[in-house]
Amino acid sequence: MTKQVDPALLLIPSNTNSPKSTVKTLLTTEQLHHGVVQLGREINETYGDRPLTIIGVLTGSVVVLADLIRLLEMPLRVGVVQASSYRGTIRGDLVINSELMPDIRGRDVLLVDDIFDTGRTLVEVIAQMQALGPTSLRSAVLLRKKERQEVTMDPDFVVFDIPDEFVVGYGLDYNDAYRNLTYLATLEPDDLTDDFA
Ligand code: IMP
Ligand code: MG
Repeated sequence: MTKQVDPALLLIPSNTNSPKSTVKTLLTTEQLHHGVVQLGREINETYGDRPLTIIGVLTGSVVVLADLIRLLEMPLRVGVVQASSYRGTIRGDLVINSELMPDIRGRDVLLVDDIFDTGRTLVEVIAQMQALGPTSLRSAVLLRKKERQEVTMDPDFVVFDIPDEFVVGYGLDYNDAYRNLTYLATLEPDDLTDDFA
């Protein structure tokens, strides 16, 4: 007889990585897990059996994307688009590369990003994707930083509202480090130096 495994349980990592002494946990591995499971439920309810194309914004969305897609039940295509604007904690020009994105014309599309901060990245990516003629285009973010938004749009799905602090882990980086933490952490000011290697 085959054993029934709750698919949600597959997402709990068996290790939680060793915390760097100066990182402070903002959301635990379990809290993130429960949040993503809830997001999966809402997306399943919203789309039902309709085929969906999910597009992750590289690089920060890779962890939430991997966890989320395994909870979705409709016929699913997965693609990525790259957007980058940060060096350390300093914002630079936004660069978007959509060469890796599948054809989205005539499809229901859900854009997934790690964090909605000023909102400029998502607004710009959405504008570029709308021009490609999807049937519908919604957005989901794992995190939304309180009172930081500089745009009028709001994502269709938001899992957690967090305070205005620089966060790392579960896909989010500081100078490309910390993405592999299974939990979400805030960095102490000492860690936010440009010579971080
Ligand atoms: P926005 O365009 O200001 O909304 O910024 C969105 C992008 O900035 C996210 O996709 C992240 O890659 C990055 N970002 C914003 N805040 C943080 C943070 O606290 N930690 C790590 N990355 C961040
Ligand atoms: Mg990002």
